[in-house]
Amino acid sequence: MSIPFIIAIDGPAASGKGTLSRRLAEALELPHLDTGLTYRAVAHALLQDKQPLDDEDIAVEAAKKIDLGVLDPIVLAVHAIGEAASKVAVMSRVRITLVDKQRQFANAGKGAVLDGRDIGTVVCPDAQVKFYVTASPEVRAERRWKEVQERGNLTGSDASFETILSDIKLRDERDMGRADSPLKPAEDAHLLDTSKMDIETAFHTALSIVKSSNPK
Ligand code: C5P
Repeated sequence: MSIPFIIAIDGPAASGKGTLSRRLAEALELPHLDTGLTYRAVAHALLQDKQPLDDEDIAVEAAKKIDLGVLDPIVLAVHAIGEAASKVAVMSRVRITLVDKQRQFANAGKGAVLDGRDIGTVVCPDAQVKFYVTASPEVRAERRWKEVQERGNLTGSDASFETILSDIKLRDERDMGRADSPLKPAEDAHLLDTSKMDIETAFHTALSIVKSSNPK
C-alpha cells in the first residue's frame, strides 16, 4: 500500500486555516479533520458534566471517549468552548490521547487534510505538505466577531469585538507559550499570511503548492 498523502495545516485561532483546510480537502477529495474540535469536545464534555478544566485524570477519561465520527462543529463553535479547549489542551496526557486518534485518522486511507496547532510539528511530522497560516490579531478578531454575529442567534453568544480580541491574544499566548506542543511553524512549513490575502487567493496559492509536491 502506498504512503498516505497528508497535508498538515497549523495556525492560530481565526487565521483562516479551517476554511483553507476544508477547501483543499474538497478539491483533492481527501477526508478532513479539524483537530481543534477534538479539544473542544473534551472541554464541552467537562463543562456539561460541571467538571473542572484542569483535572488531568478526569480530562483524560473524557478524551478517551471522544469519537471523531460524531464531532458537531455547530455545537462546538461556541466562543466559551474554544477558550475552555485551550485550557484543556495544555495537559500532556490529554494531548497524547487525542493525538493518537488524530494519527489514526490521518493514516486510515489514501490521505487526509488535518488542521490544528501541532499537526506539522507533532501529529504528522512526516506530512508531505505543511502550511502555517497566520494573520494579525486584529484581522483575526474581526473575522471571529463577524462569525459570532452571523451565528449569534444559533449559539446565544454575545461576545463583543473587544472581548474577542483580548481572548484571541490570550489564546495565542496560551497556545504558543505552553510547554507541550506549542503553536509554531514546522521548519518545512509554507507560510501563508492571510492578513491581506482573501481566502480565494490563499486557497489557490496552497493548491498550487500541493500540486507541485504531489506527483499524482
Ligand atoms: O482551532 P480551535 O480554536 O478550534 O482550537 C481550540 C483550542 O484547542 C486551541 O486554542 C488550542 O489550545 C487547542 N488545540 C491544540 N492543538 C490542536 C488543535 C487545537 O492544542 N491541534
